[in-house]
Amino acid sequence: MNKISELISLLGGTGFVAEKLNVLPSAISNWKKLNKIPRNKQEDILQLSSHLNVDIEKFLPIKKLHNVKVKILLIICGGIASYKSLEIIRLIKKTDIELDVVMTKSAQKFITPLLVTSLNERKCYTELFSVEDETKMNHIKLAREPDIILVAPASANIMAKLANGLADDLASTILLASMSKIILAPSMNPVMWNNLATRENYKKMLDRGIEFIEPDTGEMACGEKGTGRFPEPKLIFETILSYISKNQILTNQFKNISILITAGPTIENIDPVRFVSNKSSGKQGFEIASELTKRGAKVTLVTGPVNIPLPNCENVIQVTSAQEMLDNVTQQLPADIFICSAAVADWKLIPKTLSNKSFDVSNKIKKTNDTLLFETIKTPDILETVAKSNLRPKIVIGFAAETNKVKKNAYSKLLSKNIDLIIANDVSNNQVFGEDFNKVCLVDKNNCEEWEKQSKKSVAFHLANKINDLLTNYDQ
Ligand SMILES: Cc1cc2nc3c(=O)[nH]c(=O)nc-3n(C[C@H](O)[C@H](O)[C@H](O)COP(=O)(O)O)c2cc1C
Repeated sequence: MNKISELISLLGGTGFVAEKLNVLPSAISNWKKLNKIPRNKQEDILQLSSHLNVDIEKFLPIKKLHNVKVKILLIICGGIASYKSLEIIRLIKKTDIELDVVMTKSAQKFITPLLVTSLNERKCYTELFSVEDETKMNHIKLAREPDIILVAPASANIMAKLANGLADDLASTILLASMSKIILAPSMNPVMWNNLATRENYKKMLDRGIEFIEPDTGEMACGEKGTGRFPEPKLIFETILSYISKNQILTNQFKNISILITAGPTIENIDPVRFVSNKSSGKQGFEIASELTKRGAKVTLVTGPVNIPLPNCENVIQVTSAQEMLDNVTQQLPADIFICSAAVADWKLIPKTLSNKSFDVSNKIKKTNDTLLFETIKTPDILETVAKSNLRPKIVIGFAAETNKVKKNAYSKLLSKNIDLIIANDVSNNQVFGEDFNKVCLVDKNNCEEWEKQSKKSVAFHLANKINDLLTNYDQ
């Protein structure tokens, strides 16, 4: 019996594994015959094995799953389960993942930095105010370098600090200064876990995109029963591996795909000091640009004037007016995908006197008692121009901010402008522009998908998945 056949049998047999992984039993038979599990199914197998008592390392070469150097920072808090983090260190050390460890003051009451240092074979960080550490590996570097920050065990205390933005020691300062994925594995007494304060902190963090490896339910070390027990270190380790695998697959998802994105508002000047614009912050478009860049796309972002940091993508072009935006967008064609998330001002205003005389708008128009009239001139429709051009990208996606009949208006826009997908949102209650959250509805020719309210980062994540589906269907 070869290794993969043995593994399948340990996992419950061909039929069981096929059902759990939603594949045909013939596919599993094929894996057994070839003694190989396809790369895109290895993560599912890892997940399945974590629920059963199977030593996956014997069958799947975990090192091979991670040929890219991944960096993890493990933060150990003070609790009854602190010692179990040593097993997580041991498991991570078996891979080629780079690991740094930070211990809170309380954690050091349970296990020593010396023990952690000798297991991890590198310095364990404990102090925020350390001249030596600050010169070699300052706390911001510790916060920024890792791909994942794993807090295990996470105490009720660190949850409260992170949820409320406290930074009074090395661990909490790193967490606040981090832009990495944060995963918490809490462990505490069930009453602490169920305390309303902890519940609220947990919810706050979930909403901000922090992930949790949920505590187990059962008998605690203190003898009480309930939820709060530290999950098995092996399960924590495997959850981290799954996360890494998933993200490494994603980094190549849009390789060689060029994506042109517009974001932000446009500004249509009336004279040197006055203008017409709208409240778009650019946040949603920037999140999309960043997510697609992370997944390997060649992203060009053409943005109107915004007050947020520019995202990390291949090319960013900053413009002011609708005409400038259109000129720059057309210069960037051809592209595989066009996403028009900019809120382009629909009109520019030309000031006129009552007798229809134009003003010299190169100078500030003087405030007088005369009535000032405005001629409205439509700005170019960037989305429609691109969607109907000879260089039309394979996929064209538009945004529709509406205050009424949101879906109906989005659908008409989709048909009249020749667009593949419209992301519609209701801006009637002023709760989209500038906010971190968005509630959108995806309208295409056949369907209308309502998405629940979520962060703009999360909308970007799910939209990237949707675009991947569209591309797959397009190529078939
Ligand atoms: C024996 C003992 C066991 C503890 N176990 C836990 C625990 O499992 N989970 C928890 O959240 N706090 C536990 N605590 C309380 C924390 O150690 C305390 O809240 C501390 O301030 C946490 O600090 P830290 O978050 O900086 O590590 C325990 C305290 C003691 C004395």
